[in-house]
Amino acid sequence: MDKKFLITIDGKDIEAPPGQTILEVARENGIYIPTLCHYEGTTNPGACRVCVVEVENARTLVASCCMPVSPGMVINTSTDRVKEARKLVVELLWASGDHNCLTCEKNGDCELQDLIYEMKIEEPRFKIESPGYEIEQTNSMIQRDLNKCILCGRCVRVCNEIQVNEVLDFSMRGSRAKVGPAFDTDLIDSECYFCGECVDACPVGAITFKQARFEGRPWDIEKVRTTCTYCGVGCQMDLNIYNGKIVKVTGNREYGPPNQGSLCVKGRFGMDFIDNPDRLKTPLIRKDGELEEATWDEAYDFIAEKFTTVKEKHGADSIAGFSSARCTNEENYLFQKFMRAVIGTNNVDHCARL
Ligand code: FES
Repeated sequence: MDKKFLITIDGKDIEAPPGQTILEVARENGIYIPTLCHYEGTTNPGACRVCVVEVENARTLVASCCMPVSPGMVINTSTDRVKEARKLVVELLWASGDHNCLTCEKNGDCELQDLIYEMKIEEPRFKIESPGYEIEQTNSMIQRDLNKCILCGRCVRVCNEIQVNEVLDFSMRGSRAKVGPAFDTDLIDSECYFCGECVDACPVGAITFKQARFEGRPWDIEKVRTTCTYCGVGCQMDLNIYNGKIVKVTGNREYGPPNQGSLCVKGRFGMDFIDNPDRLKTPLIRKDGELEEATWDEAYDFIAEKFTTVKEKHGADSIAGFSSARCTNEENYLFQKFMRAVIGTNNVDHCARL
């Protein structure tokens, strides 16, 4: 490993490893630098310039998320020049979109809103006409309001670099630049898999969960971390609960493995079965042609009796067991053990995917 060297940030001497950016070193040492386009696990495009800092002898302010540290570097993160530059960027971003917080789902959980508040900006000095895009309402899962997009590119990078779906990218130029699938289609007409990674990555209200609209403000929502039940990977997710009901599912990037916060379409949008009124909550046994609710003890007695009858009459190999990818490894192990040791057959299989 290359040797660490000394740099100075805000008058503090810090030992920094080569290869790290100014932002990474600052964060590791508890020094705050605001960011918008930076997103852990993706490349740094240096798009927003909110993270600028002053580096001694540098010609201009530099984007700390892209600039690697070098020996002897002297960095200042909060001079008046730096603060003015960041404020200008934030004002321009605010002015260039239709950031109407009153009806925005991200109100209270918006990174642009937080920066505006932190920088004490009453209103932007600039007047820029909103682009006037129609809100995309053509699918039931993701709502896109490009009038709120700040072109940070986080959605593009998670789509291409983390999920590798390669659906989103920039199109057009200048003030007409926008993010979307090829040929400017709606998501529903594109190759989008609806993993929802772009929703999690969006720092503002441009890409939001459609089903969660008007279903609880961020500060009213309780997040409960759990393990996805759809397959055996064990992805960690946060159930967002309001009034005892799951309103949306978000990735948990803090927890880490195995999914590092990413989810697939099933984990992200397939949890509505939990509150579905048709969901079976007790076993049903057919009696006189009608399904009737039963206790678990009654159900297990019934199953055991039927298995015994079939086995006595036709032999153990007349029974086959089919397990599920929704079970854990341990459950699947127990299931095959049950089929072999209790039923007495090797007829065991499971669905590899759902
Ligand atoms: Fe560094 Fe956007 S966070 S340029």
